[in-house]
Amino acid sequence: MSLLLLNRSEFGDPANAGHLLTNEEANQLLEEWVPNERLQLHMKQVAAVMKAWAIQREGADDATARKWEQAGLLHDADWEKYPNDHCRVIIEELEKRNVDPEVIHCIASHGPRYFGVEPNNKMDRMIYVFDELSGFIHASALVRPTRYEGMDVKSVMKKLKTASFAAQVNRDDIADALSRIDIPLEEIIQFIIDNQRNVS
Ligand SMILES: [Fe+2]
Repeated sequence: MSLLLLNRSEFGDPANAGHLLTNEEANQLLEEWVPNERLQLHMKQVAAVMKAWAIQREGADDATARKWEQAGLLHDADWEKYPNDHCRVIIEELEKRNVDPEVIHCIASHGPRYFGVEPNNKMDRMIYVFDELSGFIHASALVRPTRYEGMDVKSVMKKLKTASFAAQVNRDDIADALSRIDIPLEEIIQFIIDNQRNVS
């Protein structure tokens, strides 16, 4: 991916704290902006993993868990139709629609090397960790006859060390994302397997 620097560090309006798209609105945006079903599935998987992490690992209440989920669900919404303006278009759309600034910042920081926005809280850091790994794990499932059934962490770790497997997944980004949290990679992989396997 080329540089898509946003050249901004402030996103959204603090007055919109707590305001999200309804599930209906978010799904409608997905349907309209993301015809590619595989990309839609990726976004739904990241949403499920983000929500599960917020609830299970951060003790988030419903409203907070929905923020994590919505950031995951919409993070690549403009990738298919606006590849040269990826991130900028969805951010401006969510600003127009008065979405919570933390959700917008989270989306803006999901690729610091590309968008130039640093993750600055746990939600930001976790979307960065989950994004590439979720796609990688799904790619790993697709090459197994039994898909997610019986998939273990060890085999994913092995594939990560095989540069030719899912070569488009940037291992440097994964390492950089992990360096910002204090959680072992194995634990993250298991969590992703458990929480995205049934997303459809
Ligand atoms: Fe993504």
